Amino acid sequence: MTKALSRQPRLDALGDYPFTRLRRLFGGLAPSPGLTPIDAGAGEPRRPQPEFVAATLGQYLAGFSHYPPTAGAMFLREAIAGWLVRRYGLPAIDPATQVLAANGTREALFAVAHALVNPDAIEPPYVLMPNPMYQIYLGGAVLAGARPWALPCTADTGFAPDLDAVPERVWERTAFIYVCSPSNPTGWVADAAWYRRLLALAERHDFYIVADECYSEIYRTSPPVGLLEVCAQSGRGDFARCLVMNSLSKRSALPGLRSGFIAGDARLIARFAKLRSYTGPATPLPLQHVAAAAWNDESHVATNLASYRASLDAFFTEWGKDGVPAGTFFAWLDVGDGEAFARAAYTEQAVTVLPGAYLAIEDASGENPGRRYVRAALVDGPEAAAELAKRLGQVRI
Ligand SMILES: Cc1ncc(COP(=O)(O)O)c(C=O)c1O
Repeated sequence: MTKALSRQPRLDALGDYPFTRLRRLFGGLAPSPGLTPIDAGAGEPRRPQPEFVAATLGQYLAGFSHYPPTAGAMFLREAIAGWLVRRYGLPAIDPATQVLAANGTREALFAVAHALVNPDAIEPPYVLMPNPMYQIYLGGAVLAGARPWALPCTADTGFAPDLDAVPERVWERTAFIYVCSPSNPTGWVADAAWYRRLLALAERHDFYIVADECYSEIYRTSPPVGLLEVCAQSGRGDFARCLVMNSLSKRSALPGLRSGFIAGDARLIARFAKLRSYTGPATPLPLQHVAAAAWNDESHVATNLASYRASLDAFFTEWGKDGVPAGTFFAWLDVGDGEAFARAAYTEQAVTVLPGAYLAIEDASGENPGRRYVRAALVDGPEAAAELAKRLGQVRI
C-alpha cells in the first residue's frame, strides 16, 4: 500500500503516452503478411545524416571528459543567436542573456511549466494549449500543478487555436500558453496577425507565451513567421513575456542528437536557467559542437525540405483529397474514426498511423477533436509517401 504522502495523484491522472496507447491498440494484432510494413506513426525524420556530423564529433571527442555547461557553451549559444538573426531578421539577440541550449525541446517544453507556474497558488492557474497537441504540454502543465485549458483547433477554426473561445475568467487566471506553429499534428501555421493578437492578449491579461516552433523549417510555400520576429517587428525588441523553442531534431533530421534551444525574454530565460541548474539537462560538449555546426549550415536543411515537399505532393496526389498542411511533414486525415482506421490500416495494409484521439483531450463539451483523425508522418521520401497514400486509400472501416 502506498502512503498517502508519497502518492503522485497528478501523475496518476495523466493518460498513457500516445505510443504506449498505440502499442495497446495493436496488442494481439498482426500486420498484414506479404506487405512490407510502413511505419508512419512516429514523427521521426529519416533523412541522410549531413557529413559534418561525424567530422565534427571526431574533432571534439575530448569534450566527453568534461561536464558540459547546462545553459549551453557560449559557442553554441552564439551559433543559435546567429541563426535566429539570419532566419527572422532580428536586429539583435544576446546569446548570454536571451538564449539557452536545451537537450532537445521535449524536456524544455516540459520543464518550462515548472518555471512559469506558481505551485502554491490557492486556486491553480491555467495553462492553455492547442487541442490536438504535442502531449508534453499536457504533462508539463498538469505536473507543475496547473489546470490545462485546451483550445479547440478544428476544421471549423482552420485548425488555428480558437482564442475567441477562451472565457475572460480563464484569461485572468492564465499563467502561460503553449503555441505550436507549424503545428503537430494539424499542420496549421500561425501568421503575424495571429501572433500579434496573442501578444496583445498576453499584455492585457499578464501571461506568458511559450511558442514551440520546432517545425519552422518544414513548410509548404514560404518560411513561417516566428514569434520573436513578430515581437521585433511590433516594437517588442526585448521579447517581453515570450519564449520560443526550436530544435535540430526536425530542422536537421538529427533527433538522436538531443539538441534544441530556448530564446526570448531575458527575465524568463534567467528564471528558467536557474531551474535548469537544478535539473541539469546538459548536452555533452562534443554534441554541442555538432549542434553549432548544424545551426551554421543551411544546405542540408534545403535538401531535406525539398524531400518533405515532394513527399507531401506525392502523398496528396495519390490520396486525391485536399489537406496538404501549410507546415510539418504530417498528413492529418479525417477518416471518420481514427482508432478503427488505425487498426484496419495495420491489419489490412501493414501500415502504422497514430489515432488522432491520442493527441487530444476531451474539450469542455466532452468531444475529443482528434477522434475522427489519424496522423501519418511522411518521413521516408516521395515514393514511400505515394505507397503509403495508396495503401491508406484501400483501408475500409
Ligand atoms: C511539436 C513538437 N514539439 C517538440 C518536439 C520535441 O522534439 P525534440 O525534443 O526532439 O527537440 C516534437 C517531437 O516530436 C514535436 O512534435
